[in-house]
Amino acid sequence: MTDITQISGNTRVYAIIADPIHHVQTPQAMNALFSARGEDRVLVPFHVAPADLAGVVSGLRGIQSLDGFIVTVPHKTAILELCDTLSDAAVLVGAANVVTRSGDGKLHGEILDGEGFVSGLRQAGIELEGRSVYLAGAGGAANAIAFALAAAGVAWLTIANRTSAKAQLLVDRIASAFPELQVVVGTSDPADHDLVVNGTSLGLKEGDALPCDVTRLTSQQIVAEIIMQPAITPLLAAAQKVGCRVHEGLPMLLCQIELMAAAMASRRVEP
Ligand code: ATR
Repeated sequence: MTDITQISGNTRVYAIIADPIHHVQTPQAMNALFSARGEDRVLVPFHVAPADLAGVVSGLRGIQSLDGFIVTVPHKTAILELCDTLSDAAVLVGAANVVTRSGDGKLHGEILDGEGFVSGLRQAGIELEGRSVYLAGAGGAANAIAFALAAAGVAWLTIANRTSAKAQLLVDRIASAFPELQVVVGTSDPADHDLVVNGTSLGLKEGDALPCDVTRLTSQQIVAEIIMQPAITPLLAAAQKVGCRVHEGLPMLLCQIELMAAAMASRRVEP
């Protein structure tokens, strides 16, 4: 945790904007990272309702000690039109979760959810090039992950979702952005894929249904989560029982924290 008594007139400031905000874990994680690196930076929570987002963001442009901010639910889409420039990934996914502010007050939006997930897998030694992946979900998180998996060079991507029209929409968007990738809408059956990913919110609440048919898992498959709490979701528990290697949700957050810190620092303009 950053020692707040060390905050001075030189400290660079960051924020996370969300509504609600009480549950976010980014301030603790990011301030721990700044502190461990001996960096004079601090991140604070900004609780902002959707109706106030444009006004707040406009005001942030004028804060010269602010280098960037993180944006999360429910603002990830609304933030797009409030930025001056966007990364290719943010345009493709249709959402941004990190905004960097340059010295002249210009705002650049990026999305690092998917990249964080892919980095977490890579750090664990799980390579994606040429692999076949089954992704459950077609919501905000699954969208970001699907584009990042495609960019990471997977050869085959199956997307399955309760509302299959949303899966089809995502498949169509991925297919047009990555024409060489085999991408199809799937069923609840994750068989015959190297990697099985839960990109839904199922597993967060006790009693949630499983995101796919776990009776079809086999021990050669790797099963990965985006859910952080609990660390071992019912999906991962079922996968472990079968003998699969499992990959928990936490590395996605930890990798994303590092990517966000780097992205926000990269736009810093020395006074
Ligand atoms: P996030 O930003 O966390 O991805 P989201 O955009 O609301 O949140 O997406 C939630 C995902 O979990 C969706 O894929 C959703 O399926 P639908 O598109 O059919 O809504 C999935 N999901 C949530 N609750 C579910 C449930 N009870 N059964 C199956 N899928 C569920």
